[in-house]
Amino acid sequence: MHPQALGLAARLRLGRIVRHRNETTPTEVGKESRNAVFCCIAPDPPPDPHDSYYPQWTFAITRAGPAGCVGIPEIGYRDRRDRLEEWAMAGMPPTLNQFIRARQQDYPDAIGEFSEVMNAIALGGKLISREINLAGLVDATGYTGRTNVQGEEVAKLDEWSNDLLVDLLGETKCVCVMGSEEVEGPIVPPESASNGRYAVLFDPVDGSSNIDIAAPVGTIFSIQRRVTNSGAGHLEDLLQPGKNQAAAGYILYGSSTMFVYTTGQGVHAFTLDPTMGEFHLTTEDLRFPEKSNVYSTNEGNAGTWREPDLQWVDWIKQDDPGTGRPYSARYIGALVADFHRILLKGGIFAYPGNTARPDGKLRLLYECSPMAFIAEQAGGAATNGTRRILDIEPSGLHQRTPYYIGTAREVELIGRFHGSEGPG
Ligand code: AHG
Ligand code: MN
Ligand code: MN
Repeated sequence: MHPQALGLAARLRLGRIVRHRNETTPTEVGKESRNAVFCCIAPDPPPDPHDSYYPQWTFAITRAGPAGCVGIPEIGYRDRRDRLEEWAMAGMPPTLNQFIRARQQDYPDAIGEFSEVMNAIALGGKLISREINLAGLVDATGYTGRTNVQGEEVAKLDEWSNDLLVDLLGETKCVCVMGSEEVEGPIVPPESASNGRYAVLFDPVDGSSNIDIAAPVGTIFSIQRRVTNSGAGHLEDLLQPGKNQAAAGYILYGSSTMFVYTTGQGVHAFTLDPTMGEFHLTTEDLRFPEKSNVYSTNEGNAGTWREPDLQWVDWIKQDDPGTGRPYSARYIGALVADFHRILLKGGIFAYPGNTARPDGKLRLLYECSPMAFIAEQAGGAATNGTRRILDIEPSGLHQRTPYYIGTAREVELIGRFHGSEGPG
């Protein structure tokens, strides 16, 4: 049996490998699948074979490592538009993997590395989703007893998900360096695997204190093109302004598991079908709605806020139906979930600086920049009060920033409170 598949199955507690074969996919899916090993992984011990819910996962283990679940037969290559239309007509929205590979044809110099990176993140998302769904049953709730570089308590799932993403991304051989909210310095894959074109930053579990109460959490990622030439990546590959991002996205583990990403060509949302183990396209080119009178902030901190933020929050609570006031308040305490609601329903999320922490709480590289890229691509905006988030040149991996993100109108409004004039 394939040693990588065996290792993966053991690591993920998926069970034993029941069959494998050393060949290309049954239907033609393109060069990148050549020499893949397909493994069907089933629980060990096996459940009742008559049980119609007998779960199996099929993984494609390529030479570069686990590439993702293979759920539905692929349709042969033609041009991208044909493929997307064909899937739509068949009533079967494309999978994330199909969608990314179809779009890859828009980039003539693409050699498939980007797809590998995205597949690794998507596979990580599926496995984290599964672990979260089972949290209380597989001892995934609670804390490790350690604190991370942020000085915050490390949840068991923070550590598990961090290690999983580091392994999956490292195995692609397409990533030269990684940065994680949970790890102090740059993470370099083993020497043989660190010559990739991309630097990846991530918040493995965003809002991890929600796990113990079965409330939504997320994963956030940012993909930068390396700026160093070759070999292992360095800090400078990670410390790039958000406007340089090749892609950014998040996975929301809520009542559905959603994968939302942008490469600078619009924002696309996928929903996980857990019975298939596949993300399927549910919205192409997602845009903020016009309506926007919802605010999302931890107002319990208002006693430590500074004057512009206090004026803003007073203003939005005044009764003035003509300007949509007072706004409604919604706060989940996980940026991914709060942002996702705003992206779909409109409004603004704010995490201001305060007297004790002038730069606030949220991390520029793992949280603020990737979400800002998505917001702008969806017609919204993100600022620290006075500067566009995507323009900020980072000076440290774990740098924080005051943060306001949402519909363009709301972000422009908060900017006016932080400037010399109010909105009148
Ligand atoms: P993380 O779990 O990655 O540390 O992130 C938590 C963040 C963010 O998701 C959320 O918006 C914010 O912390 C909530 O902070 P408060 O509990 O201070 O409101
Ligand atoms: Mn976070
Ligand atoms: Mn986190």
